Amino acid sequence: MRAARPFAAVILAAGKGTRMKSDLHKVLHPIAGRAMLDHLLGVVDRLQPAHKIVVVGSGREQVEHLVSARGGKVVVQDRQLGTAHAVRQAQSALGGFEGDVLVLYGDTPLVEAETMSHMLERLNAPDAPAVVVVGFRPEDAGAYGRIIAGPDGTIEKMVEFKDASPEERAIDLCNSGLLAAKSEQLFGLLARVGNNNAAGEYYLPDIVMLARESDRASVVIEAQPWEMAGVNSRAELALVEAEWQRRRRLKAMADGVTLVAPETVWFAHDTEIGRDSVVEPHVVFGPGVRIGECVTIRAFSHIEGATVERNAEIGPYARLRAGAEIGENAKVGNFVEVKKAKLGAGAKANHLSYIGDAEIGARANIGAGTITCNYDGFGKYKTVIGEGAFIGSNSALVAPVTIGAGAIVGAGAVVTKDVGDDALALVRPPQRELQGWAAKFREQKSAAKKP
Ligand code: UD1
Ligand code: CA
Repeated sequence: MRAARPFAAVILAAGKGTRMKSDLHKVLHPIAGRAMLDHLLGVVDRLQPAHKIVVVGSGREQVEHLVSARGGKVVVQDRQLGTAHAVRQAQSALGGFEGDVLVLYGDTPLVEAETMSHMLERLNAPDAPAVVVVGFRPEDAGAYGRIIAGPDGTIEKMVEFKDASPEERAIDLCNSGLLAAKSEQLFGLLARVGNNNAAGEYYLPDIVMLARESDRASVVIEAQPWEMAGVNSRAELALVEAEWQRRRRLKAMADGVTLVAPETVWFAHDTEIGRDSVVEPHVVFGPGVRIGECVTIRAFSHIEGATVERNAEIGPYARLRAGAEIGENAKVGNFVEVKKAKLGAGAKANHLSYIGDAEIGARANIGAGTITCNYDGFGKYKTVIGEGAFIGSNSALVAPVTIGAGAIVGAGAVVTKDVGDDALALVRPPQRELQGWAAKFREQKSAAKKP
């Protein structure tokens, strides 16, 4: 959905973020396991911008890596003198760029590409507005700046809450802060913004009033309140996360996935899940998960960095960690943890196991309580289990070790040597039986106890 004309995105992120009470830069706090700023840059990239400039105050070194990895530039606003002053800082980094400029906020990460492209389209409509401002009507208009506009969207006035009269404060159309303007006009207008107002700041919305003085009209377009939700505190971070999750769940269901209790399932930004899969309540997906079609993920499972093929069954109470690859029709049951391990098609580990650094052949059966001892305190070692092998319950497989295809390991084994194909390995002391011993023992003990 590339934009029709060249445009630059300027993302404001120089605010101190004081209310987050965090050492981490506000825009790096994650939504669905991905930094807010990265969400925003990802959406902007869908429109293929000519420039991406991120304006930061302190904490430049924290955001630099992410921004340059995405081909953007960081510019510094040394003192936070207001939103208009912040946008001005991007001018020289834009190197005389002529075209549309989108101003976005790093702490407003849910904006959709459609809204951005609508802003650009409106800016280039035949009536050529000077500025396109995105407005919204939140449930609680609080201290947002207000927009006074005519029925056709033409803006009569923009006023900050601090400077607003009671009548203006009663207006429910709020300034999201996001706007679009042409670079040629934008920087000229910005240069004329003063700071004679209640906050003593250079207000970005003032460019609308300045354009109006030169008989150039600006317009407001409205967006959904959830899209304009900003993050200023941890509580708002949680609200934005909840909103992101709400929409992701709807998308999963629209894509043909059954969520039995959608509000209890947590997705990551990159979760892929195939149609006709079923996700039971209270399942959490961390980053890097790909689930095939017709998979059942039973309740209370935690999955990250894993792939699960068609028809497999996971959980309840399973944990799949980085590098778990679960084959078709395989089963990973309750209280089983799998890390960096491949389970072949139809393999089963149904109960209480740890499987790490392992390769398990198709149709192998891993008994309850089996542990791959992959770590000796220094290095990690691999366990290989052949196709159709059967590992008896409560076995410890001390890696590196290979169990051949079709082999059987008797229950309770501590396997330290390789086992050949189709062999039986027994590692346990032989069973002894002393006839009548228990009865005699009880007799002696109770006799000794009598006074
Ligand atoms: C601003 C708008 C207000 C709008 C609100 C929406 C102004 C004057 N006011 O309010 O009308 O309703 O956003 O949330 O524009 N920033 C900088 N440098 C600065 C100041 C801010 O980069 O010097 C950045 C912040 O990091 C943030 C964004 O600009 O991403 C908005 O700043 P914030 O202080 O949250 O907004 P307000 O000025 O309260
Ligand atoms: Ca804010």
